[in-house]
Amino acid sequence: MALPKSDYLSNIWKDDLFKNKVVFCTGGGGTICSAQVRALVHLGANACIVGRNVAKTEKMAQSIATARPSAKVIGVGATDVRNFDSLKAAVDRCVSELGGIDFVIAGAAGNFLASINQLSVNGFKTVMDIDVLGSYNTAKATLPYLQESAAKHKVDSKTLQPSSLGTGGRIIFVSATMHYTGMIFQTHVSVAKAGVDALSNNIALEFGPLGITSNIIAPGPIANTEGVERLLPSDSKEESWKSQPLGRYGSIRDIADATVYLFSDAGSYVNGHALVVDGASWRMPAAS
Ligand code: HXC
Repeated sequence: MALPKSDYLSNIWKDDLFKNKVVFCTGGGGTICSAQVRALVHLGANACIVGRNVAKTEKMAQSIATARPSAKVIGVGATDVRNFDSLKAAVDRCVSELGGIDFVIAGAAGNFLASINQLSVNGFKTVMDIDVLGSYNTAKATLPYLQESAAKHKVDSKTLQPSSLGTGGRIIFVSATMHYTGMIFQTHVSVAKAGVDALSNNIALEFGPLGITSNIIAPGPIANTEGVERLLPSDSKEESWKSQPLGRYGSIRDIADATVYLFSDAGSYVNGHALVVDGASWRMPAAS
């Protein structure tokens, strides 16, 4: 059954904003990334989502495709972002079936709560591999196609007018905010997300001259996601939204709207930025 549009996208965007564009997304089986892709598909894009779990990835692709009757959405399961060849095979399939890649969302992540004493060396390495190496592999495998797309969609450097073909050549890494302050039981993730932010900043500089933009979206506590369900201690979950600076959790729509903004013409001069979508949650003093 199709999700109501109001669950994943605001009503302010033009329906054909991303017509004929292609988005490639890692971690697309998860709640946040699937909402990002669903919003882009609703606005005209076709999509390729990848994940490790075959059934979950294919089922999510079918669900996302219901956002628009003519949408083409491919789910490529058995893809591990830690393995470059596995990821490259998914990228090749995306390009051969959908014709290229205009937008990338690098969203695959690994997370669990563990103190440094509980965290094994392999546990630390596993999260570094999924988040940092996986994001690098995603960028490495898709940048040649983003380069082709950026060449077609560049803003004119003299007139500063957007391309009549729309936008393309953009990458978003889904990061977090815990590394801005540090967070107990999240050392592995904090170190990894700091690395992801650094990767995005370097791509922004190195590929900016080719017209590619690279940005971070850093979600805060988003309702009905694995992050909130699994990572918030159970005794603080009940009504903890009340103590947030805006008196609520974020929604997946908040993240999807930020994604549409960064990929749209409105986001053309935003590069090397971390867009924190957390209602100022990370600025709150930690509970004593
Ligand atoms: C301590 C743990 C652990 C835990 C795994 N490990 N879970 N250590 N506490 N709860 C250790 C294992 O013991 C092992 O080390 C090492 O990590 C690798 O574990 P595997 O299970 O073999 O790895 P793998 O199958 O690759 O699974 C990766 C994973 C898993 C990260 C551990 O949780 C996973 O696949 N997650 C994907 C989905 C996910 O995490 N999504 C969350 C995103 S939410 P040893 O030493 O025993 O070999 C998010 C938002 C955050 O990021 C928002 C915050 C508010």
